[in-house]
Amino acid sequence: MGNRDELERTRLAWAKLSDEFLEPGRRCWASPEIAWGIWNIPERELATLGDLSQWKDKEVIELGCGTGYFSAWMAKLGAKPTGIDLTPAQLDKARAFQVEFDLAFPLIEGDACSVPLPDQSFDLAISEYGASIWCDPYRWIPEAARLLRTGGQLVFLRNSPLSIICSEDNGPAQDKLVRDWFGMNRIEWSADEAVEYHLPHGPMIQLLRDSGFRIDGLKELQAPEGATTRHDYMTADWASRWPCEEIWITTKE
Ligand SMILES: C[S@@+](CC[C@H](N)C(=O)[O-])C[C@H]1O[C@@H](n2cnc3c(N)ncnc32)[C@H](O)[C@@H]1O
Repeated sequence: MGNRDELERTRLAWAKLSDEFLEPGRRCWASPEIAWGIWNIPERELATLGDLSQWKDKEVIELGCGTGYFSAWMAKLGAKPTGIDLTPAQLDKARAFQVEFDLAFPLIEGDACSVPLPDQSFDLAISEYGASIWCDPYRWIPEAARLLRTGGQLVFLRNSPLSIICSEDNGPAQDKLVRDWFGMNRIEWSADEAVEYHLPHGPMIQLLRDSGFRIDGLKELQAPEGATTRHDYMTADWASRWPCEEIWITTKE
């Protein structure tokens, strides 16, 4: 499958999924507090972004921004976010939320692997289940490096590769390994879903270093007691025992 076909497949898949993300998106827009991933773990517990006051007036690019709530959180901190997303239906929701919550920032329709903005124009690149799983890391991570200034940070959340090797094509993660670790990256769960990318830790560390990033941290997220999720690929029980999500914290050297 060529890159343009794959982009079209992703766009179509997200056009169908988009309405499911309307109310969750609204809740996040309405929330004053940054929270990560499917368990909504507050940033104040994770401290992935350091002292939040440092982001005032800083330029932030969100790669695969969806309904735009992460950028909105950054704007509330005084940062200057820009969101890029491939799917018009997602950007329409982000624009509607900008009006509803009276908080505007630039939104670009495009591919996070090829962002139409100059080199070294951002202080933070962020992705929460955006480019971090829907784009080939061998393309989007060098693109994030290009966009960042020296000393800028790339922070992204994705499914843990452990959860992926415990997941068959359908159903929730299991307590056994069902997929190969070696060679894993591009995954097609089914013909009508978008392609995902899940690179294991060794090659991810190599890629980040080759792209000029220093790795400052890798936070493995645990489901809190009593957690529930609307997602069918994961259970709170599994995620209370093993990390189903992880956040990489890196700096462009
Ligand atoms: C799950 S949303 C991420 C936004 C939000 N953090 C969330 O969790 O709802 C995934 C987004 O990635 C976008 N996306 C997928 N491939 C992309 C690409 N190549 N470039 C930009 N955005 C992309 C989709 O259109 C979708 O809006």
